[in-house]
Amino acid sequence: MKLRGKQVSPLLETNSRFSICVIGLGYIGLPTAAILASKGHNVAGMDVIPQVLDDIRKQGATPEEPGLAQLVLGELESGRFTLSDKPEAADVFIICLPTPILPNKKADMSYVEKGVRSILPLLQKGNMVILESTVPPRTTSDLVAGLVKEIGLDPENDVDLAFAPERVIPGDILLELSTLDRVIGGLTPKAASRAKELYSCFVTGEIVITDSTTAEFVKLVENSYRDVNIAFANELAQLSYDFGIDVRDAIQIANRHPRVNILQPGPGVGGHYIAVDPYFIIDGAPETARMLALARIVNTEMPGLVVKILSDMLGGLQGKNIAILGLAYKADVGDCRESPALEIMKILESGGAKCKVHDPYVKNAGFELYELAEAMEDADAVLVTTGHSDFKNINGAEMLEKAKGNSILDTRRVLDRDSWAKAGWDFRYLGDGRS
Ligand SMILES: NC(=O)c1ccc[n+]([C@@H]2O[C@H](COP(=O)([O-])OP(=O)(O)OC[C@H]3O[C@@H](n4cnc5c(N)ncnc54)[C@H](O)[C@@H]3O)[C@@H](O)[C@H]2O)c1
Repeated sequence: MKLRGKQVSPLLETNSRFSICVIGLGYIGLPTAAILASKGHNVAGMDVIPQVLDDIRKQGATPEEPGLAQLVLGELESGRFTLSDKPEAADVFIICLPTPILPNKKADMSYVEKGVRSILPLLQKGNMVILESTVPPRTTSDLVAGLVKEIGLDPENDVDLAFAPERVIPGDILLELSTLDRVIGGLTPKAASRAKELYSCFVTGEIVITDSTTAEFVKLVENSYRDVNIAFANELAQLSYDFGIDVRDAIQIANRHPRVNILQPGPGVGGHYIAVDPYFIIDGAPETARMLALARIVNTEMPGLVVKILSDMLGGLQGKNIAILGLAYKADVGDCRESPALEIMKILESGGAKCKVHDPYVKNAGFELYELAEAMEDADAVLVTTGHSDFKNINGAEMLEKAKGNSILDTRRVLDRDSWAKAGWDFRYLGDGRS
């Protein structure tokens, strides 16, 4: 099969055929279930929301995931993949349930706990239970093993408990599920190798096995590493105003050092993972995870800094109309979960400004979005919060005719400052402390 022009290795054949019950058919559970079915396993996919099951039956999957709808419908047709609203007896249970963050920044483990509880009446000696959800360290050894003990089974000897996290990116899930290297952690070495055997049927990347707590920690460390590195760049952007320099120049020059590779600053960190995963570590060891906590503080301060710069440019926010270009948390996608633009809007509106948001990628924001021309109409200022490639083609001179004011702050450096300034805009880039 070819995905995004890349050849995915020919389907692997495994000698062991398992019956598998996948609990939770969202972004992760559905492709995992379908891919396992395509390798010859009998897979029951289970979800508590009837609409989720209906949608899968009708259309397979969202068209945004290349190849997924076709794979799902094909496996349903073959009978190897079935759908259910209740867990079914199986050799292997795979838990793909949400682990959102609570307002107090603790992991909400209620979905995982409920999901594991729902399979307990079916659990038999010799079964495998694999957790794929992103979870705080020690969830497999404490929460999952603890629940297994409640029904009188020994979590180390009677069943095999493992943690097999995901690293995939929406939009490329099917490709990345099969090709990325994976870490799998077992409560026991036997559990880790049994889980590895199962995942080897479709993972062509390397599978590294370890204990379950290390694997849980690794999953969180990956996104925490990115959060800390972004925070470093964002702190440099903050410092640019103290020292009157352009942070972009400074970073570009510093990156000429062969062992320096500083990221670019921005208006904050968004998405459901980088902005969330560090809290799962911080919560478990708040006194030790100082750098992770500080990185979160620096990154969450950025929307406030953006609003302060804009407010200074405008001489206050009260009654000002702001055209916000970009709601998504990153360029060229429509995902606005935890997007800094949402926080920026909130702060602008609490300061008395009115925001009109334009984002050609976002379909449903939960509030009204505007076409570019409508957003610009009567705008006192423009704020660019996402680096969508389309924005590069916006004509500054044409926009100035529609707007009321001429202030613009580009937090992503996506627009060409010279041409906009030439057209008459008071143009600032975030992190240019010279302006
Ligand atoms: N989506 C990603 O790209 C991604 C990447 C890496 C890790 N993860 C992690 O994977 C886990 C799952 O994420 P997702 O994006 O697939 O979530 P999702 O919200 O897309 O899907 C979860 C599904 O579980 C169902 N569900 C809820 N409670 C249930 C229950 N008790 N029994 C059965 N079904 C139930 C929901 O109806 C939903 O369809 C999370 O921990 C997430 O952090 C996701």
